[in-house]
Amino acid sequence: MQQTTLDITRIRKDFPILKREVNGNPLVYLDNAATSQTPKPVIDTIVGYYSNYNANIHRGVHTLAQEATDAYEKARIKIQNFFNAAKAHEILFTSGTTHSINIVANGFSSFLTKGDEVLVSAMEHHSNIVPWQMLCERTGASLKVIPMNPEGELLMQEFKGMLSDNTKLVVCNHVSNALGTINPIKVIISEAHAVGAAVLIDGAQAAPHIKVDVQELNVDFYTASAHKLCGPTGVGMLYGKEEWLTKLPPYQGGGEMIAEVTFEKTTYAGLPHKFEAGTPNICGGIAFGAALDYIKNIGIEAIAQYEHELLTYATDRLLSIEGVKIYGTSQEKTAVISFNIKGIHPYDIGTLLDKMGIAVRTGHHCAQPIMDYFKIPGTIRASFSFYNTKEEIDRFIDGVVKAKQMLS
Ligand code: ALA
Repeated sequence: MQQTTLDITRIRKDFPILKREVNGNPLVYLDNAATSQTPKPVIDTIVGYYSNYNANIHRGVHTLAQEATDAYEKARIKIQNFFNAAKAHEILFTSGTTHSINIVANGFSSFLTKGDEVLVSAMEHHSNIVPWQMLCERTGASLKVIPMNPEGELLMQEFKGMLSDNTKLVVCNHVSNALGTINPIKVIISEAHAVGAAVLIDGAQAAPHIKVDVQELNVDFYTASAHKLCGPTGVGMLYGKEEWLTKLPPYQGGGEMIAEVTFEKTTYAGLPHKFEAGTPNICGGIAFGAALDYIKNIGIEAIAQYEHELLTYATDRLLSIEGVKIYGTSQEKTAVISFNIKGIHPYDIGTLLDKMGIAVRTGHHCAQPIMDYFKIPGTIRASFSFYNTKEEIDRFIDGVVKAKQMLS
């Protein structure tokens, strides 16, 4: 196995929370798919904003308002560069991936009608299912599910067979939050485009772990959340191709999204402001930019390689425990391991691990259809980040063994 070039000891010093104890033990944080931890430069950015230039953006001539506006728009450019979007106004600030998906699902209400079809993959988070169900209810369009196999891989031949002139939208995650599968989205996008369908990719679980280039993917819409990328909660982004964002109606009305308002008629602002009504999470947006700087400095390729080492190490060690079954065994995976131990409820293992200072997520991971597919109530999910270590994995494995003994 190739060894990482990253200096993990140094990197860990940037994350104050990694020094804390939980239940008398040093914290082992393995819930990175739910939210990543925040490095000092991002915390400093947040403190710096509220200490020095807290003001509303795009609205004042005074110095503070200009400084805040400049920093916010600079952050938009950082996001543009991180995802390699062609234009800064193709990046919209949102409150997170859920908000991003709802902007598109709401906008498509004007474009869909009875007989149209929306294809959604079998391994979606609820946030990439429910908005499309609501869209279909509003418009009379049908929702069709792209099936998967027991390894947690999409059945691509079936997908191709489902595409037709009726397909108007294909929506899929880049990486499954519950299984870790990296989906073949480049093929999905080009096949969908061949029948004239638009594609939205939920990138919430991919962007922190693998390189994303929206132009190379030729994707129509791509989403991500800052809090999974070492940024704060409550802020995220929607990338949309200019032609789509121009066509799409606004999601919310309010200040900042208008060109002119009279009681008779309102005209809308251009991109990106048409979609950014109201005072946004200004500090969050600026801190999102700082978080992307931090990740860029480490290097997404080095992160992907190191996290793959962690995945292989943890998978091998976990499989040596009798009774462990891993859900999501795709060849292409990020460092997420969902598993169960025969005869033991996932919640019980999670609770005992917490007593040992080890944080994992248990349950259905907002992906109930996946749990239904495997006929299980939920899983224990350990999800890794570049600041995790093999020593932490050893503690996690020891913890699982101990919990299993206590519950057997
Ligand atoms: N979507 C996040 C997760 O998978 C919250 O845990």
